[in-house]
Amino acid sequence: PRQVAFVQAVLATGKQACSSASTIKLEGKGHAPVNIALSKYWGKRDTILNLPQNGSVSISLPGLGTDTTLRPLASDSSQQVTAQDRISLNGQQLDAHQPFAHRLSQFLDLFRTAEVPFFEVITHNTVPTAAGLASSASGYAALVLALDDLFNWQLPATQLSLLARLGSGSASRSLFPGFAIWHAGQSEQGLDSFAEALDAPWPDFCVGLVEIDVAEKPVGSTAGMQQTTAACALYSAWPAQAERDKAVIINAIQQQDFSQLGATAEHNALSMHATMIASWPPLLYWQAESVIAMQKVWALRQQGVEVYFTMDAGPNLKLLFLAAQKKAVSAAFSGLKVIEPFAKPDTQAAS
Ligand code: DP6
Repeated sequence: PRQVAFVQAVLATGKQACSSASTIKLEGKGHAPVNIALSKYWGKRDTILNLPQNGSVSISLPGLGTDTTLRPLASDSSQQVTAQDRISLNGQQLDAHQPFAHRLSQFLDLFRTAEVPFFEVITHNTVPTAAGLASSASGYAALVLALDDLFNWQLPATQLSLLARLGSGSASRSLFPGFAIWHAGQSEQGLDSFAEALDAPWPDFCVGLVEIDVAEKPVGSTAGMQQTTAACALYSAWPAQAERDKAVIINAIQQQDFSQLGATAEHNALSMHATMIASWPPLLYWQAESVIAMQKVWALRQQGVEVYFTMDAGPNLKLLFLAAQKKAVSAAFSGLKVIEPFAKPDTQAAS
């Protein structure tokens, strides 16, 4: 009920901006990129409305993300439709009880109407699902864009971000290319907890993906956060540090101070993982190869190659460096996938 009221409030505020009455289309489409947090979201102050303990800053990765198509499914149509959504992921039809499909249908519960009692959802990820590469972020952002298209709401970005947040917190940031800031907000209603673009293109900024393991993670972020906030004494220090790191990183982006950005992002990620490790039962997303990769990054820095890492709720590392170091970093990490978020499309293809 609080979620329903929230969605109604978001739609009511957003629709003031668009004049025409909404008419349902035959099909809605959405695309959103994945994003990597430079200063992390970890912990919720409200699990129903998905309100975070702290704000965060991210960079979206063009070319990696989710494409989603939505179509209305009538419950009484001639084509033998059962009373549930029909969801496919990467070309595979999913059982309604499968966790991914179940979570998606619960989110769609908030948007059913008399005309659209059920949905057909066709979704394709260009990233491995649940491999710590934030597929839920691009997934819920793309889904909200597809809903906006299907119902022809024409919502502004702020409202889209608010709705995406309800599906997955990090999805609030995936509505924007480049850098994005998700404000924690203060209100109980949650209408002030949305992301916005930090419009500061940084042409030589690079992100490298070190894939340690792309298998589905055993403990998802939602459960991991619950475990950490419930059973970690160190966690009490986290929200304040995360807010400070967020401010430093925003400043570093605006000044294009890469050393400050990299050091703060790496320290922020390790601090977040420290809270996970210090919970009970312990939560350790790292594998032995993750630690070897971290040590490689530190060795490179000692040799004068300025590269930093960040990690999310999984074993993979994301490297942060500038284009001048691309050769040296790629030489040290064989098979490194390098993304240049601000590169022109033609140079992106060549890299
Ligand atoms: C470690 O957004 O996946 O990647 O809101 O429960 O869906 P839910 O969590 P999710 O958490 C992301 C956690 C993180 C850090 C980050 O992206 O900020």
